[in-house]
Amino acid sequence: MPRLQGHETPMATDAVVTEFVEHIERKLDKLLKQVEMSEPYRRVFDPTAESKLVLLAIKYVLLEVFSYGPHVTEATFTAISRLPKNRPDLMKVIIKHDLEEVDHGEMALADFVTLGGNEEWARTRRITPASFAMGATVRMLAERESPFCYLGYMYPFEALTPILTGRLQELLSRKGFPVNARRFIDFHAEEDVSHSKLLKHLIAQVVSEFNGAAEDIEFGFDCFTSVDPLPIWEAAFTHALMELQEANHASGSPA
Ligand SMILES: [Fe+2]
Repeated sequence: MPRLQGHETPMATDAVVTEFVEHIERKLDKLLKQVEMSEPYRRVFDPTAESKLVLLAIKYVLLEVFSYGPHVTEATFTAISRLPKNRPDLMKVIIKHDLEEVDHGEMALADFVTLGGNEEWARTRRITPASFAMGATVRMLAERESPFCYLGYMYPFEALTPILTGRLQELLSRKGFPVNARRFIDFHAEEDVSHSKLLKHLIAQVVSEFNGAAEDIEFGFDCFTSVDPLPIWEAAFTHALMELQEANHASGSPA
């Protein structure tokens, strides 16, 4: 159950805060290693990867981003609304960050369409179970758990995105990926560096000021990383392989 009332007295020393932030950083490193070992990552970053497969994998990850994006935004505004009401200062910083994320699903959709995706289908289809599970997880965390769990899902999001989009930028330049379909990737490779720092700072602040927040944040982290990024990537990669197979079949090439 959420434990918000009456735990706003500073509880954590600087050493405890630092130790927790380092603990989360180690979990992030472990997550990044898991991502690097995953099939979608290995096949996309394989130097011999077919350009078409790379393009399709990105195309369908962008579709997933469009699918879960609104759920993350709505969940996060819910979490913000449940923060202690005597902390408008905290709310203001988090609202500003969330506002900067609001239209990123649409940004992803625009690149998906540039890569040949059907906008009407994207807007009207049922989302994949992977995006549904991700959306449901962030909504449950934001609505039913301590609102500080939000930091546990937003931080890995913001910390991994600039690393992965940065790596993609190099790869896509080599693969001749259409420059006009890189808006989402190029934007996030830059913007999420500062967002990641902001979220890390917020984690330290909240852990130092609210008793129990570290446990809430870690629970949010563990729930979130069980549904993102790997299950999302796997769904997107399966979709990419299907389209590649259909394209190869239509052109008479071997699958
Ligand atoms: Fe961001």
